[in-house]
Formats: sequence, structure tokens, C-alpha cells
Amino acid sequence: MMDAPVSGGAAPLILYDGFAMAKTTDFNGKWALVTGASAGIGAALARELANHGAKLILTARRVDRLETLAGELRTRGTEVRIVVADLNDPVAPQKIFDATEGAGLSVDILINNAGLGQYGAFTQSEIAQELSQVRVNCEAMVRLTRLFVPRMVERRSGWVLILASTASFQPVPYISTYAATKAFDRFFALGLAAEVARFGVKVTALCPGPTESEFFDVAHAGAFKRRGIQSAEDVARLAIAALKRGQRTIIPYFRGRFTAFLVRFLPVGLITHYVEKEARPA
Ligand SMILES: NC(=O)c1ccc[n+]([C@@H]2O[C@H](COP(=O)([O-])OP(=O)(O)OC[C@H]3O[C@@H](n4cnc5c(N)ncnc54)[C@H](OP(=O)(O)O)[C@@H]3O)[C@@H](O)[C@H]2O)c1
Repeated sequence: MMDAPVSGGAAPLILYDGFAMAKTTDFNGKWALVTGASAGIGAALARELANHGAKLILTARRVDRLETLAGELRTRGTEVRIVVADLNDPVAPQKIFDATEGAGLSVDILINNAGLGQYGAFTQSEIAQELSQVRVNCEAMVRLTRLFVPRMVERRSGWVLILASTASFQPVPYISTYAATKAFDRFFALGLAAEVARFGVKVTALCPGPTESEFFDVAHAGAFKRRGIQSAEDVARLAIAALKRGQRTIIPYFRGRFTAFLVRFLPVGLITHYVEKEARPA
């Protein structure tokens, strides 16, 4: 779903560029950094970027997973580097930057995908996992973006994908922290997109709904998984196409687009009331 352009005053304010930048949308031979590339949507995004000719920098904590994916991509002729990092660590983004852009690679595509959730009553939740969501989903994403985007601005070219979620469109009881981090991610992406568009840098917020990955196991959220699920490959294909054309928001399935549209017209208290009943742990 593309955000509506806003008009008013003397000159119209253009909130997305789209096809005007078509000549600069070629990913072939460009370096793409994918966080959370060891599983799920991140691994699918890496494969999809390789399909578009990009060279890949894969990062996550599980080095065995990264090596397996790197091996698969290399057999298809893709150049791949691996940087192992734990994004709970506030110095990890700088470490990733030093090993890539700082070592002479021009990272033109930044995929801020790494993330986690936790399902259950907040009062009984593991505080370490609550805070890890804030660090990985928000703080590390901001740090990485702050490190890489100024170079893109200097080069007058770049693409940034930020993983939000359909959970970013309303509060979601029992994944309260997670939904709040995703609202942060989506608003950050939209604000930054408006700041850097005039420098040729495109920022896209990806808002998937339930998607096949390890997310539900990590989050102990099997109940959410039962409601219909999209493949990570489908999400990645639609996301990279949207990123390439500079679309600011992509919700990669119809029901998600419809719900995100609908909640604009309903009182937030009413929505939260019903979601609380539906999401309440048994
Ligand atoms: N699946 C869904 O239904 C869904 C829906 C909407 C949005 N999303 C978003 O999509 C993104 C990817 O999630 P997914 O569904 O693909 O889940 P996933 O299969 O669990 O993958 C999560 C990825 O994030 C990495 N990660 C987690 N904690 C990390 C840390 N401390 N340091 C570095 N990397 C870390 C994991 O790598 P290691 O464990 O190897 O470090 C893994 O590669 C997340 O931002 C999530 O919020 C998912």
C-alpha cells in the first residue's frame, strides 16, 4: 500500500517518487547488507537480492546458518561476505560498519530485517526478551541506519528496507512491546524516507503479516501462526520489487492492506479491546 500524497498550501508535497527514478533502480553488482540473514524473511530477502544480481553481506549470530546460505548463493555465482554479530550488543552496528563500508565496500542496499518478539502477558514475561526487542528491533536498526545512510546520501544513491509489521498499525495486547517496536520502525522509516528522498535515497517500510519463519517459535506465539500464513519467499519477492521502485510502504498481502486501511477509521480503544479478547493467552 502506498501512502497517499498530501497536498495543501502553494506547492504540492510529494511523499513518494516512484517511477521517476527508474534509471537508478538497478541492484546488479551492488552490495546489500542483510541483518537477520540466518533464517526466515532475512534469508529469503538475501536470496531475492541475489536473484536481482546484488552481492550479499549476511549478518546474524548463527554462523553455521550464514555459512550454509553463503555456500548456496556462491554456487549461483553471487559474491558473499559474512559478519557475525549480536545486535543486543550496542557496539555490534559499528563492528558491522567497520567490516564492510569502513573496509572499502560501498553498501548501497541496507536491509534492517533482524528482529524478535515475545507473546504472553507482559506481567509474566521475560524482561530480557522484552528489552532485546527494543534493542534489536529499534536501537540497532537506528544505529545501523545512522552509520550507512550518510554515505548513501554522499553518493546520491541508496536503498533502505526496514522491517515493520501489520502489528505496527494498532496496539496489540500480549505482544505489546513487539507491536510498539514495529510502530517505531514504521514511523522511523516514513520520516527518514521523507528526509533523504531528495538525495536519491529510498526507504521502504515492509509490513508483513504472519509469515513462515522461526519467529513464532522464538516468540512462543503459535496461536498467531494458525491464522493463515504467507511464505517468506513471497514476502521477499514483493518487498524487493517495492524497494526497487521506491515505494514507501509495502503490505505484501490483501487482508493486511484491507485491515491497515480499516483501522484508520476505528477508535484505537475499540480495536485494542477486541484484539485483547482475541489474543488473550488460554
Ligand atoms: N514472521 C512473521 O510473521 C513476521 C511478521 C511481520 C514482521 N516480521 C519481522 O520480520 C523480521 C524477520 O523475522 P522472521 O519472521 O524472519 O523471524 P526469524 O525466522 O526468527 O528470523 C529472525 C532473524 O533475526 C536475527 N536476530 C534475532 N536476534 C538477533 C540478535 N540479537 N542479533 C542479530 N540477529 C538477530 C536471527 O538471527 P540469529 O538468531 O542467528 O542471530 C534471524 O536471522 C523481524 O524484524 C520481524 O519482526 C515477521
